[in-house]
Amino acid sequence: MVIGCIGGGSNFAGIALPFVREKLVEGKPLRIIAVEPSACPSLTRGRYAYDFGDTVGMTPLVKMYTLGRDFVPAPLHAGGLRYHGMASIICELYDQGIIEARAVPQLETFRAAVQFLRAEGIVPAPEPSHAIAVAIQEALAAKAAGEKRVILFNLCGHGYFDMAAYDAFLAGQLTDYEYPEHEIEEAMAHLPQV
Ligand SMILES: Cc1ncc(COP(=O)(O)O)c(C=O)c1O
Repeated sequence: MVIGCIGGGSNFAGIALPFVREKLVEGKPLRIIAVEPSACPSLTRGRYAYDFGDTVGMTPLVKMYTLGRDFVPAPLHAGGLRYHGMASIICELYDQGIIEARAVPQLETFRAAVQFLRAEGIVPAPEPSHAIAVAIQEALAAKAAGEKRVILFNLCGHGYFDMAAYDAFLAGQLTDYEYPEHEIEEAMAHLPQV
């Protein structure tokens, strides 16, 4: 099982694409999971459509899962995982069912981060903590099923620039946030017509 967080798709592609080859060419029974914040659910709740890659609307149109270029990220600590779209290759692999996607909320993410740093002595950034949360979910699922699973996740950044976020979490000041459905509906109405 290969797990990575996704903002625009770079670190996830780096860890996952070699395994996509193993899955497709060598037929290895791998599961590959892209993890995004539930506050910015491009893959899990966005539409697969042509959209601009930037907010201003200057880039060429790109087919991708998108929340719309006018998506405004909530003031959360999802760090760099607040891009409205996603790299095309990730979107196509997801659309074809070759990779999976899962959204996790902010509080579960920070609980996973703190559990990880207490166990490993490494402070993870909020971004990879989304992947850590799913690695923990999958490890617990394997334990419950009595199965042995090899779980690889990408620890794509440290959290030494994110002490304020940890501080807020430990002070109980963070909350969960689900991106509202009506915002998605509204943004979809503004997608370029192709
Ligand atoms: C540590 C870290 N991981 C992940 C990301 C998300 O980007 P990408 O999905 O392109 O890897 C960012 C973006 O700022 C980041 O700072």
